[in-house]
This record gives sequence, structure tokens and C-alpha cells, in this order.
Amino acid sequence: MNGVGSLEIHNLGVAYLRLEALTGISVQVQPGRLTGIIGPNGAGKTTLLKAMLGLIGIREGLVLYHDQPLQKQLELVAYVPQRSQIDWTYPATVWDVVMMGRVRKTGWFRSFSPTSRRLVQEALGRVGMDGYKDRPIGQLSGGQQQRVFLARSLVQEADIFCFDEPFGGIDWKTEKIIFDILHELAAAGKIVLVVNHDLGESITNFEDLILLNRKLIAAGKRKNVLTDNHLYRAYRGKVVFL
Ligand SMILES: Nc1ncnc2c1ncn2[C@@H]1O[C@H](COP(=O)(O)OP(=O)(O)OP(=O)(O)O)[C@@H](O)[C@H]1O
Ligand SMILES: [Mg+2]
Repeated sequence: MNGVGSLEIHNLGVAYLRLEALTGISVQVQPGRLTGIIGPNGAGKTTLLKAMLGLIGIREGLVLYHDQPLQKQLELVAYVPQRSQIDWTYPATVWDVVMMGRVRKTGWFRSFSPTSRRLVQEALGRVGMDGYKDRPIGQLSGGQQQRVFLARSLVQEADIFCFDEPFGGIDWKTEKIIFDILHELAAAGKIVLVVNHDLGESITNFEDLILLNRKLIAAGKRKNVLTDNHLYRAYRGKVVFL
């Protein structure tokens, strides 16, 4: 069961006061395979990412990477929160936001080294945002903001990438730019976990899926997860699947 470099979640349970948000989640995430986390609103997708990263307390369970607690290796993780959880009025420019991705790696004092500057420059180019360096992040469109946060995650030189709904409210061109980069990360052997709302055609980008609704409904290869039975159990018949 221990594939080298896999991320293992064992019997994870999370409660908010009396609400059991997640119960008994056990799943293994493979490097090199673009993995989607899907399920209805309130299913616990965001909660799963936050619990893995120690941003909220867990009631029980273990999250291991290379057989060691992930929480002791957070420098290996790049996380882009759901849009609604980011303070877009924060007075920072595009360049500042991407440079913040270097801080955990290098510390504040060395975060502006020539290497960091080069990585920031490259990442902005890769997401097509190099023309916006001095722009305050509050003055960008939703798709531009998503690309800036994607760039920030790229400069972290992480092993594990977690994105919470990076495709919310963006056009197909931006979606393609982002998916191309996610595929590249997976092809480079990274662990790439993406919460995705859309069960439309874009779902075919994912090789593996984790389908949740407070409990784990199914996980593994996309085709084995997207069965009528699993979708019915997760969405209670409220889904129109392409
Ligand atoms: N800080 C919190 N305090 C109390 N309950 C919370 C908190 N955060 C989330 N919840 C509840 O936990 C459940 C799971 O929420 P979560 O945000 O993980 O769902 P989600 O699958 O990410 O949903 P969405 O698709 O809307 O983003 C929901 O019922 C939500 O109301
Ligand atoms: Mg969410």
C-alpha cells in the first residue's frame, strides 16, 4: 500500500462543534496523477484540504507523506484557498503576492534573492501575467487573480499542490492555461489535488477522483468513480452529468 511518495489519509474525521463535517475518510493520493476532489456544496471538500494541512483541528485520523505526518512537512505543500477565503482588498501587488510564495522556502531575509526573483518572473510568464507585476491584486479580474495565486504556488517548489476550486468563474481560455499547468505538475511527478465543482467536460482532465459527501463515496480512477450509483449516493439524484 505504501507507494513511494504517495499521500495517505487514514480514517480522517473532522467536526465543527456538533456538525460532523467528515467521517472515516481513508484515501491514498498518487503522485503523477491529476486528482480531483468532487462532491456537492457542503460535502466537506474544503474541510478535507484544510484538515490535511493542519489549518483546522481534526477529531481523529492521520495524514502521512513518505510515512511521516504531513503536518511536519508543510514546507513541501503549496495551497491555493477557495476564492471566497482570500482577502482581495489586501494592499499587495501581483509581484508581492507571488513573492510571498518564496518566504517559507527562504525566510523573509533571503526571499528576494536573485533565484527568487527569477522564479517569480518565470511563474508570472507561465501563467501569462507578466504584464501585471505592479497591479494591486484587488484590481484584477477573477481569472487573473486565480492565475496570480497559481504563480505563487509554482514558486514554492513544492511536492504537493492543493487547489480549492481554481476554476470558479473563469473563462475557457484561463481554464485551459490552468489545466495545462496542472497537467505539467502531475507529469513532473508531483501530487496535485484539485477541488473541482464542475462535473461537465472538464472532469475528463482528471485521472483520479475522490468523491465525497461527508463520507468517502468512492476514490480511484475517474471511470470507476463516476458511476451512476456513486453519483446518486453523493448527489441524491440532483446531478446532471454530461
Ligand atoms: N468554520 C466552520 N464552522 C462551522 N461549520 C463549518 C465551517 N466551515 C465549514 N462548515 C460546514 O462544514 C460542512 C463542509 O463545508 P466545506 O466548506 O468543507 O464544504 P465544501 O464541500 O467545500 O463546499 P463548497 O462546494 O460550497 O465549497 C458544511 O456543512 C459547512 O457549512
Ligand atoms: Mg469548498
